Amino acid sequence: MSGSADKTFYLETFGCQMNAHDSEKVVGTLLQQGYRQVPSVEEAGLVLYNTCSIRDKAEQKVFNRLADYKKYRTQGKQFGVLGCVAQQEGEKIFERAPYVSLVCGSASYRNLPQMLVQLETGGQRVTGLDDRATDKCFETEYTARTNPHRGYITIIEGCDKFCAYCVVPYTRGKERSRTSSSVLEEARQLVDLGYTEIQLLGQNVNSYRDPDGKKSFAELLVAVASVAGIRRVRFTTSHPRDFGRDIVDVIDSVPALCDHVHLPVQSGSSRVLDAMQRLYTRDEYLERIGWIQAARRDISLTSDLIVGFPGETEREFEETLSLMDVVGYDSVFTFKYSPRPNTPALRLEDAIPDAEKARRLAILNDKQKQIGARRNRRHVGQVLEVMVEGKNPARGQWIGRTSQIKVMNFTVPAGVELTTGSYVQVRVTGSFPNSLVGEMAGV
Ligand code: SAH
Ligand code: SF4
Ligand code: F3S
Repeated sequence: MSGSADKTFYLETFGCQMNAHDSEKVVGTLLQQGYRQVPSVEEAGLVLYNTCSIRDKAEQKVFNRLADYKKYRTQGKQFGVLGCVAQQEGEKIFERAPYVSLVCGSASYRNLPQMLVQLETGGQRVTGLDDRATDKCFETEYTARTNPHRGYITIIEGCDKFCAYCVVPYTRGKERSRTSSSVLEEARQLVDLGYTEIQLLGQNVNSYRDPDGKKSFAELLVAVASVAGIRRVRFTTSHPRDFGRDIVDVIDSVPALCDHVHLPVQSGSSRVLDAMQRLYTRDEYLERIGWIQAARRDISLTSDLIVGFPGETEREFEETLSLMDVVGYDSVFTFKYSPRPNTPALRLEDAIPDAEKARRLAILNDKQKQIGARRNRRHVGQVLEVMVEGKNPARGQWIGRTSQIKVMNFTVPAGVELTTGSYVQVRVTGSFPNSLVGEMAGV
């Protein structure tokens, strides 16, 4: 039992940035409840996994982890499953892994203090699960800021899009936006903590609706960027259907908004997009890309792509390749379609064999390598602002990120020491498909 004076926990996080940020909320809540975070399962009384179920492999990871640590059950450790697998599988997890005593989805983290008390008093099957009906506010009172450079702010939770392949609407519930005033208040708190870069988070930030009706998403971007002390504002993820031209306009006019848009396309074929229920065609997507490329600023473009959606023909796959050429992405995340519980795509026929998905994925990654190399070459000779994130002692180089979210490895003049979180000007001297190299040119 961990209910003694020294209450310790270990937390491992899987999945997306929203999960990473949720973990900051979980850590904050546990610290507030008198727990101490420890770096290993061995030292912990309470072992927590904040899980992801976006693809089958991600979901398997948590059950593998639990199997690995089953042996500790006899030592009285308690195990908890949080996040998207928890919400998706619910109490079934207790059957599959009987040594788990807490199952809690993201919409219930506010209730963690009560759940911890139940655990401390020997609770065996403590649950915090929500149906999609919840419109409860998702803010927690305490957030530990574990990312040293970037302050995350959730502006919208859940998703109402129901893409045919995706679990998120089931694991994170319906869309709920936060008021613009509470977002701005959190931005000011982050500045007080020393943050200069903010990332606004949501599965679909473009469908942000201020409950107070004060600000559109684009207006919220401007307001956050105008908070004194903020130097960089990022946002993710954008859904093409709701991506308005006003977003490009504000990026163009407000320097603190970063030169980067992540606009997941998933497929270059309108037929496949329709089957995926993405609510836009190839041409409508390209229209939005056109707005971004017509901006005065050089906005980098990234995306998510799925290969092997049921029924995807070779020609349709080639349409994805041609779209990549037309857009010229700076980088992409690529995935093999993975059938997921509850989703409508499960009922579709014409599954693509795994070997074929793997082949398509390899072709796509190869193509992106060439496009990425070309996109990065254009920076050679430019001087870009970089936020310093750390040092690579082995190579004697510093590492940071540009506004366009590119990784920059750079050298500094002899004797110069930088501090992480500071900004420097770097002259780009070379490029690779996924990173830039350079030398510091000034502050
Ligand atoms: N809300 C974001 C995406 C969140 S999930 C959006 O709409 O773009 C991140 C990415 O995982 C998705 O963009 C998609 O490319 C991928 N993904 C989601 N479900 C998947 C599945 N069942 N199989 C393979 N990839 C999937
Ligand atoms: Fe999933 Fe689609 Fe919602 Fe993105 S928009 S989270 S892919 S359902
Ligand atoms: Fe995974 Fe849940 Fe994020 S399924 S990608 S952790 S929203």
